[in-house]
Amino acid sequence: MDSSKPAKAVRDAVEAAAEKVADVLTPDLPGAPGSAAPTVDEPTAPQDPLPPKKEQGAPQTRTPTGARTGAPPTVYGQQGAYLTTAQGARLRDTDHSLKAGPRGPVLLQDHHLREKITHFDHERIPERVVHARGAGAHGVFTGYGTADGVTKAAFLGKGRETPVFVRFSTVLGSRGSADTVRDTRGFATKFYTDEGTFDLVANNIPVFFIQDAIKFPDVIHAGKPHPDREIPQAQSAHDTFWDFVSLHTEAQHHTMWNMSDRGIPRSYRMMEGFGVHTYRLVNAAGETALVKFHWKPKLGVHSLTWEEAQLLGGVDPDFHRRDLYDAIESGAFPEWELCLQVFPDTPEETFAGIDLLDPTKIVPEELAAVQPVGRLVLNRTPTNFFAEVEQVAFHVGHLPPGIDVTNDPLLQGRLFSYVDTQLTRLGGPNFAQIPVNRPHAPVNDMLRDGLHQHAVHAGVAPYRPNSLDGGNPSPAGDDENAFVDVPVTVAEAPKVRANPVSFDDHFSQARLFWLSMSPVEREHIVRAYTFELGKCFHQAIRERQLRCLANIDPVLCAQVAAGLGLPAPEPTVPLADVAPSPALSQLGREWPADGRVVGIVVDPDADLDGVPEVRRAVLGGGMVPLLIAPHGGVVGDLPVQRTFATARSVEFDALLLAGAPAPAPDALPARDDKAGAADVATVDPRVLLLVEEVWRHAKAVGAWGAGATVLERAGVTGTPGVVTAGSGAEAFGAVRRLMTAHRVWERFPASIR
Ligand code: HEM
Repeated sequence: MDSSKPAKAVRDAVEAAAEKVADVLTPDLPGAPGSAAPTVDEPTAPQDPLPPKKEQGAPQTRTPTGARTGAPPTVYGQQGAYLTTAQGARLRDTDHSLKAGPRGPVLLQDHHLREKITHFDHERIPERVVHARGAGAHGVFTGYGTADGVTKAAFLGKGRETPVFVRFSTVLGSRGSADTVRDTRGFATKFYTDEGTFDLVANNIPVFFIQDAIKFPDVIHAGKPHPDREIPQAQSAHDTFWDFVSLHTEAQHHTMWNMSDRGIPRSYRMMEGFGVHTYRLVNAAGETALVKFHWKPKLGVHSLTWEEAQLLGGVDPDFHRRDLYDAIESGAFPEWELCLQVFPDTPEETFAGIDLLDPTKIVPEELAAVQPVGRLVLNRTPTNFFAEVEQVAFHVGHLPPGIDVTNDPLLQGRLFSYVDTQLTRLGGPNFAQIPVNRPHAPVNDMLRDGLHQHAVHAGVAPYRPNSLDGGNPSPAGDDENAFVDVPVTVAEAPKVRANPVSFDDHFSQARLFWLSMSPVEREHIVRAYTFELGKCFHQAIRERQLRCLANIDPVLCAQVAAGLGLPAPEPTVPLADVAPSPALSQLGREWPADGRVVGIVVDPDADLDGVPEVRRAVLGGGMVPLLIAPHGGVVGDLPVQRTFATARSVEFDALLLAGAPAPAPDALPARDDKAGAADVATVDPRVLLLVEEVWRHAKAVGAWGAGATVLERAGVTGTPGVVTAGSGAEAFGAVRRLMTAHRVWERFPASIR
């Protein structure tokens, strides 16, 4: 018999299994690439473009001047069943250049070839100079009406719904860098309000490195890769960053947040957002208030462990992007409340002694309540990443009537920078006409012409005053809801390049943050500083940063110094006497577990008792179940989404073990012995590695039936957060309860008090 040809029975079995896989891996599973399942053979019958996936959204179809077109969003893309040129002429062939005979040469006449190649040559646009790596989604914002007393911005009115587009990002990395690096995250929201677009261009950290925008190029040049070797990518663990922040000490507060768990979020869905600056609101009566904007996530604020973040950089560099889109596709729509801290608008612009114009300072929530004014739900993924996420252009100067800026010198510089950079990034002055940037309010500006003009302007008089166009457009008065530039009094003073004295305090709030952390959070901060400074080449830079830490807290300084093998210096300024803010800690409460990912290890050769029910229960709980088996395909009737070769613990928030699978043929026990457990002969070593890592990262683990023996072999039975149950339902119930605290914190030794 020819051994290269499988027996018919084997072939039939493989074909039957393949059919079953095709049946269960339907396009409605999170992560499916398209809205329809592909056929094995290339389709040949002409047909219209497939519709987008059901959870995909797109910018509403508006004219360049903001009018509704009533057309479906798909008109922005392609239409018709046939391939055409950019001018709509149908094409017979896009696979061969037009040649003088089959062997050429290629003819200059081939306008299709030249159009196709020319367009391709220009497909890339410059990436953002900062925040290049990001992901975005569409959603809806609903006002509560609770802000009516402080602002006349109509979109905050009770029950008022406004479409939004949100883009999350890292700051330092290039567009192709990993999601899970230690960095600040951007959280920029575009509200398409009826009164003009409002952009809340926020971060997940409430303070900034610098107090004056003139230092922005300095801090970014210091954080970006070294100019000679262009390394390291997307991280602050290098000499130039620490050189700058240890010299320019106003950066110390923000740096402390970056070194905390806030620098490595578990998910965009689990981040707070902060407008950072103080803004000025105006109500219908013309009264003003100073405010800070906060986003509060429904799921709480949670982070990765440093080890998870590092592993994910290799295992799944798109972790946050995937998490956002999978959550939306599985119906676990990310949610935040928009909140305000409101302060009286006094001439001093301070609150409780804190200078509200200093963007390196917070106002602790215990001093000024964070009050909800509306709810944001992200419920649509982009239809085209480039058109929406890359081309969206945010700007802190996009403000509706009722919201104004303050004199914060960082905010003032930002008012210039965003439009300026977008002019080159988006190729000209007309980027507000790109679909995702089009306002939903009527636009009647007198801006004309320029590259990529999409509007066909009528009239002859784009100037004011005019009589030839009937005086149109007219300026709006107070009764017509004009934007309000609040007439704030400017103090009589000399022109200087200087800061107010209150900006000189660089350490007190870094200390406040440190003192507000729980022991385990402090330990993470110590490790982060030790790692980052340990990666610097020069000892002088480490020593200088230790001097800053000495001015923040002696325990912090001593711990980091010990890790670096350096003496801990004495403080050079008195330690600030500050009250901790418990609201800054991420621990100690319970949150919904929506959209969490639960890995379920199954043994196809054993009883699958309870597995289908548990999978249904995970889905029913708004979470994502991922079945992990020795091989791909199906187990019973269930789709296998990870094999032992493709699964890594860092993808899961919790692990369930429904069996104790023996080493699979590709286990290579000798090589995969890295699980370190004694008994790799009976349980696949990769399953033991999963358990070991999940345990190290303080995640919940549950097992029933034969699964319990894996826990025993891994040596974790009876430890906190490890559940052995009589049934799958019982195991999942217990694990689910554990997940509401995010991690099993008791497993972390809390050595720093
Ligand atoms: C509180 C301080 C700041 C916050 C919260 C902040 C936040 C952000 C965010 C979230 C983005 C990404 C926008 C997107 O997703 O497209 C961004 C981009 C950017 N930021 Fe800032 N930023 C701050 C300070 C500054 C300063 C001081 C400058 C310059 C003076 C600046 C210049 C830029 C530029 C040039 C971009 C790229 C914009 C684009 O290409 O579309 N930022 N910023």
